[in-house]
Amino acid sequence: MRMIEDPADLLLPEFRHCGFVPTMGALHEGHGSLVSRARADGRPVVVSIFVNPTQFGPREDYARYPRTLDSDCALLEPLGAAAVFVPSAEAIYPRGLEAARDEAAAIALPEVATAPRLEDACRPTHFGGVALVVGRLFDLVRPAAAYFGEKDFQQLRLVQDMVEADRGRFGELRIVPCPTIRERDGLAMSSRNRYLSAEERTAAIALSRAMQVAHSAQRVETAERLMRDTLESFGLEVEYAVVRDARTLLPVTGFERPTRALIAARLGRTRLIDNSPMTVWR
Ligand code: PAJ
Repeated sequence: MRMIEDPADLLLPEFRHCGFVPTMGALHEGHGSLVSRARADGRPVVVSIFVNPTQFGPREDYARYPRTLDSDCALLEPLGAAAVFVPSAEAIYPRGLEAARDEAAAIALPEVATAPRLEDACRPTHFGGVALVVGRLFDLVRPAAAYFGEKDFQQLRLVQDMVEADRGRFGELRIVPCPTIRERDGLAMSSRNRYLSAEERTAAIALSRAMQVAHSAQRVETAERLMRDTLESFGLEVEYAVVRDARTLLPVTGFERPTRALIAARLGRTRLIDNSPMTVWR
């Protein structure tokens, strides 16, 4: 596996038409599953590791976000990744961080990243930073396909719509959604799970449990109430616990389209998100 710092090296013929897995590192089996999926599609796989400052809010965990490059490489190597791209901040943001933050704030985002009032409302500067870095990484890596986890469902929908809206820039790039990988008790794997104390780790099953409980509901309101009650009974502070149209992420208006449950909740200092398909009636 090649370690690449200089974006110019991505232009080598062996990385042409690659499968691309963008990450912020602190890799776990969820990330690994994206790499395996990309490998299965038969292209060389490039994984990026870049803790992107522009997608963190001022009171968020950028400084303490785990940086574990050695164990990340140990996880990637046996999965058959061709290269790990570890750019410097200067390579991604040559005009500096302040200019990058301005640029992120000025990006015209697709509606799915501004209208639902989910992550977009809880983390107002987040998706500007995500769109900026993902676009920049796509420009540098020029992949044939890019792999994103359903774990970050609104992010996945943003990237799909962003690419669809700008085929001139992104060409034929295919965005491949990949299922959420979970711990044995149902907790969705996340780099942020390592912030949890033993006690919090036990309570964190509340998210997957809440969605499981809500599966028995027939109506949106019932499902949302069951999710909220379950989360609160485990001591979590709910930011949202909703059932939405799975494509637009807007409130459900009929039952002829797929729906999705989405949760964000706080456990001490840690913010956790999860989602799952959910069939309800209006
Ligand atoms: P990060 O949180 O490192 O996640 C990288 C990719 O792994 C994302 O597509 C995410 O959805 C996926 N992923 C995380 N946990 C997963 C799980 N349990 N199962 C399946 N996939 C999972 O998402 C980001 O980084 C950043 O926002 C990024 C897109 C790299 C832009 O900076």
